[in-house]
Amino acid sequence: MSSGSKRSRQEKPQEGLSHGNGGEDSFLDQTLRPNVWNDYIGQKNTKENLRILLTAASERKHPPEHLLFYGPPGLGKTTLAHLIAKEIRAQMKVTSGPAIEKVGDLASILTNLSPGDILFVDEIHRLNRAIEEVLYPAMESGVLDIIIGKGPSARTIQLELPAFTLIAATTRIAMISSPLRSRFSGGMFRLEFYTEEEIEKIVLRSAKILGIEIEKEAAKEIAKRSRFTPRTANYLLKRCRDFAQVHTHTKAPRVGVGVKKSRLTKLLVEEALALLGVDEVGLSPADRSLLTVLIEKFGGGPVGLNTLAAALSEEEATIEEVHEPYLLQLGFLERTPRGRAATSKAYGHLKNAKSGKLI
Ligand code: ADE
Repeated sequence: MSSGSKRSRQEKPQEGLSHGNGGEDSFLDQTLRPNVWNDYIGQKNTKENLRILLTAASERKHPPEHLLFYGPPGLGKTTLAHLIAKEIRAQMKVTSGPAIEKVGDLASILTNLSPGDILFVDEIHRLNRAIEEVLYPAMESGVLDIIIGKGPSARTIQLELPAFTLIAATTRIAMISSPLRSRFSGGMFRLEFYTEEEIEKIVLRSAKILGIEIEKEAAKEIAKRSRFTPRTANYLLKRCRDFAQVHTHTKAPRVGVGVKKSRLTKLLVEEALALLGVDEVGLSPADRSLLTVLIEKFGGGPVGLNTLAAALSEEEATIEEVHEPYLLQLGFLERTPRGRAATSKAYGHLKNAKSGKLI
């Protein structure tokens, strides 16, 4: 766990596009994160609700109530938590569900909070039930119940905690138990996929920060293939920048030192993304092989998630959290009571991809 002012965590690369980001990219992801509300594009409804909640809490001179953000990866849950901390000038401590292994870990985190702190717990669905039980009274009444000893001689002591706000994030809302859900008294906010226009603005903003010269049509093309997700858009932008840089070297050898800068055109973007295997609608090779296996091995489905995962040698969680939300959003996949099924749109898309009409 670390304070929010430092580079506390390595950003997760966008899975499913199988890119292994190095340290530099993680650093850049932090650089691209909006620092002020006005720079945060999209999620209009959530932003407006948060504005009201934060203003009201600040007028009452009270820390905001506990909040839960959920939705597919890369849509800005962590960014929102950072913006809230900044807005209310609170220190933010960052941890995650899998990092809290024992009740003692949580007790230590909670007792080390200062009044008004924000505790950000990412992937809260991976918190184990015994730890959840300790979290309930902490969230509800600001107390920590600690059991000392075992068996008949066990006794409970209660520690008063400083007032704090828990902000949690999850990609798997269904995995959060209903008692835990009900403790998010400030509300649960579902982050939505962005529109292409919003992603285009994010790409143009990121390009400006990174000093990349980019044509509007090139930004549009990246937006089109970004799975309506800012993290993916920024990843694709950086890969296109790399491609353009190297491409410029090979086509026109540099004279002198320094990295040659080139202008990102639509054509360069198309070439760079074709090389990455990202097609016209933003499907990665992994997405396409999911659809191909579903269609060619299972007659288009319906097929159970576990069978599909086994056939793809992929984890069920990765299929559910990374690939499916976007395929569902595109209308390429259906979740039926009997399993996953490919739609006619998926058949059409793969047919075009095979005949070379795509990418
Ligand atoms: N970078 C990542 N998410 C963003 C957002 N919602 N607005 C602006 N820039 C972003």
